[in-house]
Amino acid sequence: MDGKLRFLVIGAGQRGVSYANPVSQMAKAAIYAVAEPVNFRRQHFGKTYIWGQDGKPAAGQEFSDWKQWLAWEIERRELEGAGKTVPPGVDGVFVCTLDAMHVEIMLAIAPLNIHVLCEKPLATSLADCMSILGAFSRNPQEKIFSVGHVLRYSPHNQLLRKLLLTDRVIGDILSVEHTEPVGWWHFAHSYTRGPWRRATDNKDGSLLTKSCHDIDFLLWLLSQAPDGADKEISAHLPKTISSTGALNQFKRSRKPKQASEATNCLACPYERQCQYSAVKIYDDARLAVGHTHWLNHVVHDIEDTLHLSGVDAARRSLYANLEQDYIKGVTPDEEIAKRPWYGRCVYESDNDVCDDQVVTIKWDEDNQSPLYRPGKLATLHMVANTEKECERRGIIYGSHGELSYNGKTIRYFDFVQTQETVIETPDAPEFEQKIKSHGGGDRGLTTL
Ligand SMILES: NC(=O)c1ccc[n+]([C@@H]2O[C@H](COP(=O)([O-])OP(=O)(O)OC[C@H]3O[C@@H](n4cnc5c(N)ncnc54)[C@H](O)[C@@H]3O)[C@@H](O)[C@H]2O)c1
Repeated sequence: MDGKLRFLVIGAGQRGVSYANPVSQMAKAAIYAVAEPVNFRRQHFGKTYIWGQDGKPAAGQEFSDWKQWLAWEIERRELEGAGKTVPPGVDGVFVCTLDAMHVEIMLAIAPLNIHVLCEKPLATSLADCMSILGAFSRNPQEKIFSVGHVLRYSPHNQLLRKLLLTDRVIGDILSVEHTEPVGWWHFAHSYTRGPWRRATDNKDGSLLTKSCHDIDFLLWLLSQAPDGADKEISAHLPKTISSTGALNQFKRSRKPKQASEATNCLACPYERQCQYSAVKIYDDARLAVGHTHWLNHVVHDIEDTLHLSGVDAARRSLYANLEQDYIKGVTPDEEIAKRPWYGRCVYESDNDVCDDQVVTIKWDEDNQSPLYRPGKLATLHMVANTEKECERRGIIYGSHGELSYNGKTIRYFDFVQTQETVIETPDAPEFEQKIKSHGGGDRGLTTL
């Protein structure tokens, strides 16, 4: 570890692992510490990325809560300031807890003046984002401050931006149709049964928790000046932004009659016919075929159980979670709200976020700036029931051509040459193909 930048991961869940994977393959950086309350996750993460299968954590490497780490780090600095010999601290932190916790953590760690990557969304209100910005702006030394908007860093999207803004393969961009196909089962998992199914205190929903990525992507393509442009040139900011959304599919009126009064898949007569059956999603399509990536959201230690005790034990543990249910009007709402219910009927859930939403963004022509920028329109369509899972796609209409993209292939047609060009972007490395890696964006952001 000597000479490498040391990083702490706060929250060793799905995203913590997504960043630890590429960092642990870098020559110049290492995952050095973890703060995570779930014992199995913390141990598994520590063994995989920090202290090894047979090793033990050193002082300052294992914490069950981020506050415990912060208190340790403050004391470590005080002792160091008093001339004592102390264990090393970390150079940076990945904040990978759920959305609502980001603001408290970010405000508390800002005075440490270390590198930070906070998962998106940075916070769940504009006021909280501004207070985080204020807290980090007061720091004396400039450090990396980043938010997990990984779409900017995938090889496909980096090439897309270069083709559009630097090479100008379709001339000026005039209009964009961008789609975020969330995926029929993925939406059921995260936004109907999972942690993002209810609007935030500020009444924001899937547009914030899912499509903040897409808004960032559009502004990165359409507002920011091209790479290499004069740094004084300001962003081309939109003139108006408007949105309409609805919850059309995941609600009681859409429940198939054959499902009758069932509120849980394990007790549902229609289970075998229903596409959203939790048994089909979590067992048939995952556990039964040895694919556990999403299952640890449902049962934290399922990979360990599978490995140590076999598939039958893992299945028992999965079903023990899936059969848990609540009774509307009887179970206190705060009990319902505080956890996911992965076996719950998607038509009987307590979700209220939109499953279909369109955003329209309009830019006025800018002929005052040294970089002339035409007026343009962009639409973002976030839609739940899609075959593709988060493989964003779109069409961009330019002054001299038309371009389409889908996360894999970029195709453009030049109106002047009447010529088509098709570019296939390279496949992600094998270790990334098994997990959701945002087309290499997770690696791109961490290794930048
Ligand atoms: N960048 C992306 O593309 C992307 C994709 C999915 C999710 N996210 C965001 O990443 C964040 C994490 O999502 P996830 O899917 O990894 O969730 P997760 O539930 O898998 O992981 C969160 C982890 O935080 C831990 N935690 C809870 N309290 C803690 C505490 N006091 N101290 C330390 N750790 C604590 C939990 O035990 C859990 O392991 C969310 O903000 C989410 O919106 C980003």
